Amino acid sequence: MTKKPRIVIIGAGMAGLTAANELYTHSNSTFDLSVVEGGSRIGGRINTSEFSSERIEMGATWIHGIGGSPVYRIAEETGSLVSDEPWECMDSTVDKARTFVEGGFEVDPSIVEPVSGLFNALMELAQGKENDVVLGLGGIYENATNVGSFLKSGFDAYCSSNGGEGYGTWSRRSLEEAIFRMFSNTQRTYTSADDLTTLDYAAESEYQMFPGEEITIAKGYVSVIHHLASVLPQGVIQLNRRVTKIEWGSCEKEGPVKLHFSDGSLVSADHVIVTVSLGVLKAGIESDEGLFSPPLPEFKSDAIKRLGYGVVNKLFVEVSQRHFPSLQLVFDREDSEFRFVKIPWWMRRTATIAPIHSNSKVLLSWFAGKEALELEKLTDEEIIDGVLTTIACLTGKEVRKDTDTKPLVNGSVNNGNDDDEVLRITKVLKSRWGGDPLFRGSYSYVAVGSSGDDLDAMAEPLPRVNKKGGQGNCHDQNKVHELQVMFAGEATHRTHYSTTHGAYYSGLREANRLLKHYKCDF
Ligand SMILES: Cc1cc2nc3c(=O)[nH]c(=O)nc-3n(C[C@H](O)[C@H](O)[C@H](O)COP(=O)(O)OP(=O)(O)OC[C@H]3O[C@@H](n4cnc5c(N)ncnc54)[C@H](O)[C@@H]3O)c2cc1C
Ligand SMILES: *[C@@H]1O[C@H](CO)[C@@H](O)[C@H](O)[C@H]1NC(C)=O
Ligand SMILES: *[C@@H]1O[C@H](CO)[C@@H](O)[C@H](O)[C@H]1NC(C)=O
Ligand SMILES: *[C@@H]1O[C@H](CO)[C@@H](O)[C@H](O)[C@H]1NC(C)=O
Ligand SMILES: *[C@@H]1O[C@H](CO)[C@@H](O)[C@H](O)[C@H]1NC(C)=O
Repeated sequence: MTKKPRIVIIGAGMAGLTAANELYTHSNSTFDLSVVEGGSRIGGRINTSEFSSERIEMGATWIHGIGGSPVYRIAEETGSLVSDEPWECMDSTVDKARTFVEGGFEVDPSIVEPVSGLFNALMELAQGKENDVVLGLGGIYENATNVGSFLKSGFDAYCSSNGGEGYGTWSRRSLEEAIFRMFSNTQRTYTSADDLTTLDYAAESEYQMFPGEEITIAKGYVSVIHHLASVLPQGVIQLNRRVTKIEWGSCEKEGPVKLHFSDGSLVSADHVIVTVSLGVLKAGIESDEGLFSPPLPEFKSDAIKRLGYGVVNKLFVEVSQRHFPSLQLVFDREDSEFRFVKIPWWMRRTATIAPIHSNSKVLLSWFAGKEALELEKLTDEEIIDGVLTTIACLTGKEVRKDTDTKPLVNGSVNNGNDDDEVLRITKVLKSRWGGDPLFRGSYSYVAVGSSGDDLDAMAEPLPRVNKKGGQGNCHDQNKVHELQVMFAGEATHRTHYSTTHGAYYSGLREANRLLKHYKCDF
């Protein structure tokens, strides 16, 4: 009896567990299979948690279109889409959001809606869908290279014809411009690009979305992860096993890949599926030590360097009142003399503050780029101060910054009662995707200077057989052992990168590559 081929999957996130599930259920024990995970939990960038006795998502939140989504299919089949408890479903953001601008004005929807219509139409155009709204804007997309300047020319073309009333120090045009910036800030959190001028325009039309509603998962995103992991026998998934070096490319017949772990242990494997994030790969090729030995061939490391990978974080705050409205936040320009200097810079590109469901005391905001990184460094007190100052300056609402329960106004003691007129923040929880060495950011995007081809290059297994470059240490092409290092993860999917379903498909792809290689068909 020959030894079973040993497959080690690095990372127990969506891609790694999908690959493990597929390999296990289709191979009838042909393989010696393990999943090594550097962290102390499974799920990776899926991190369902609890805050203020509510179920919340620190990472992946939405099923981006239920039509045809494999994540939706699993969530539905496992009964994860229903729950007796309320969950982070954002049911009060749709249609009911109120828009406030710096200076303390609420803006009428009749001003916000045309700008939102324009923004959405421009993004649809960038994504290759025709629409009537922007037809009149004349060729603005012809020479577009990045999403940021494309949006700017779209807005400029649209605005040349406007007039109408403003509010206070706001002219109508400056107001519309600020509202447009707010939608652009939402786009920063969708893409993780700190600056939309670094987001490649051409790639935008390659990105695919599923049709249908976007929903969250009532029992938590992690229920999909648990379902995938549930078929694997005990011991297949190994937690707290961080890989520090991947030696590959030797001519050895058995176990040509050697994995070094942070505890000094060593495992050899026939095939390794690397699912670590693009951020971890970037760090892995930049550091002197290097995650790969020999270093990755140029075609691979160039793709890793060129593609974009940004930081997006979520901030949850528990407030003293229920039925807080969903707010859209419109800030003045950086160079405006009318700005409230007390609002910290890291709040100024936050587009919304909204309860996670209509009866919740938990409010959620999304942060991207520099602001998201700064959020990770702030103390809870700084965050409370910044959020409350922002709410006060935009809505005129009375807020209270200390968290103790001393008398508020003369005679009236704050007792944590829901009906308090004065808004307080009682608790804070934030994600930390940027600083965590197992992630180093949130998700990938096609940066200016890269393209969909780089995403395909990310997916190519090593060594590259019969192609120049990438043979590793084996100099005899005929002896080279195939499929030593394989790559899965959201950053390896050309049209669904950045998503959980992209990660899912990439896991299936690499599992099936191996099943085909071994002619397994169970
Ligand atoms: C804040 C946030 C919001 C998001 N929102 C959405 C959303 O609404 N909808 C959506 O579809 N997607 C969303 N995403 C993206 C989605 O979460 C990811 O695309 C997807 O989960 C990535 O899965 P993956 O398997 O490719 O990578 P990961 O989940 O990162 O899995 C890789 C695993 O490798 C482990 N690892 C790293 N280094 C090592 C090492 N050296 N040794 C061993 N193990 C290691 C990590 O701990 C991790 O568990 C969001 C992500 C974030 C951060
Ligand atoms: C799976 O493997 C077992 C043991 O090797 C064998 O008896 C069985 O027939 C196999 N199943 C299929 C479907 O081939
Ligand atoms: C696009 O570029 C071409 C060539 O430089 C130029 O002739 C054309 O006017 C540009 N189109 C727009 C809409 O700017
Ligand atoms: C505060 O309350 C006390 C006792 O009820 C009263 O005598 C006093 O005038 C109040 N002060 C103010 C500023 O309202
Ligand atoms: C995952 O969630 C836990 C809370 O349950 C939190 O402590 C941790 O920081 C989260 N991970 C990241 C990377 O944000």
